[in-house]
Amino acid sequence: MNLYSHPIETLKGEIICPGDKSISQRILIIGSLLNSDILVKGFLNASDPNSTLNALNEIGASIEKVENRVYLKKRSIPFFTPKKDLDLGNSGTGLRLMLGLISGLGINANMTGDLSLSKRPMNRVITPLKEMGANIFSNNGKLPIKIGTGKIVENYDYQMPIASAQVKSCLILAALASRTNIKIHEPKVTRDHTERIIEYFDGKINYGQESREIKFSFQELKPSSSYNIVGDISSASFVIVAAVISQKSEVLIKNVGLNNTRSGLIKVLSLMGAHIEVQNRRVECNENVGDIFVKSSTLKGINIPEEIIPNIIDEIPILSIAASFALGTTNITNASELRVKESDRLNAISEGLTKIGAEHKLFEDGISIYGSLDTICSSIKINSYGDHRIAMSFLVAGIRSNNGIKVENCKNIETSFPHFKETMNLLGANIIEE
Ligand code: S3P
Repeated sequence: MNLYSHPIETLKGEIICPGDKSISQRILIIGSLLNSDILVKGFLNASDPNSTLNALNEIGASIEKVENRVYLKKRSIPFFTPKKDLDLGNSGTGLRLMLGLISGLGINANMTGDLSLSKRPMNRVITPLKEMGANIFSNNGKLPIKIGTGKIVENYDYQMPIASAQVKSCLILAALASRTNIKIHEPKVTRDHTERIIEYFDGKINYGQESREIKFSFQELKPSSSYNIVGDISSASFVIVAAVISQKSEVLIKNVGLNNTRSGLIKVLSLMGAHIEVQNRRVECNENVGDIFVKSSTLKGINIPEEIIPNIIDEIPILSIAASFALGTTNITNASELRVKESDRLNAISEGLTKIGAEHKLFEDGISIYGSLDTICSSIKINSYGDHRIAMSFLVAGIRSNNGIKVENCKNIETSFPHFKETMNLLGANIIEE
């Protein structure tokens, strides 16, 4: 499916942020382990969380969904080895977290996924899971993966070589499901939703120095009858940048998750000169949340601090669009993880920027973007490589183009932001199917 984003003048209005993808997947998994009746509101009804939901039901969870509400039901039978392969579709988070859960439960399973997921590296979780005692066979560290019966050791201690919340969460879930303790050291702070959900249900997490040592000590979690998922700042970021780079725009995005380990884009864009106000700050189910008011702004390029990269890892494609319309250079380094996302995002960004005429230099681990306030993309066709965040980023760029931008292969927008087109158009964008 191809989408065409026509140039527009102004974006105006108010929207509610779609549910957080990372939290939606985690609450399904941790909630299923709680084995209790829990009503989840604000669920992201999109294909990534839905493939995790289906995989959980295949191993015996009892989850029903009605649009954005999910009912986790108490079961009378334990988890079991599924009859079918578990297909995690496009979802790296779903696959890596389910590998941790299943290893911890000690059941067997075969895992598969789509073409993009089948190319992504899984040894980052397989290696530590095997050290923990899991019995895993893979296709050279890629899908398909088979989990055989194993026994998880107690008190595993792991130094993560890469800063990845998926790896950290996978291992914590393996410990939680096998009812043991674990200590993990991360090289940089990564998103902490797993820890926060465990704490919300009265589980015990201790943080070491600079919160880069995470110690989970098993104790029975205490279920609550409901859980509200906050909005996804990664989805909000497309709307934020669209408002910033268009003219005379004023947009309010309600219920945006503002977890410190996720909200780096707000800091970065503010440093670049964006007019962003956070209103109505509050806490919902142990997560910070607020409403974001954003206006058209004149941006300037900056050096993105290395420490913040894991915090904005999913926002770098849309940040690159913002940087193309900023005065001066924006330098992004230490971001080689972008090469193993749903696509090689550094290549995809660079190819797209070349087509829209944005000057830049690509490196192995980053990109320098030489922006200009005069950048106006000419009429062009962009390949999204089936990557939802690349597709949405260049559709946002289309707002500030001469004749619009056509983005090919947009189907996977449904993995994280199913109503992206409608939401943008409600604010005044003109994105149509072609
Ligand atoms: C995620 C963590 C990040 C992020 C992904 C979601 C998560 O991946 O890019 O979209 O939910 O834990 P890594 O942990 O591999 O950096």
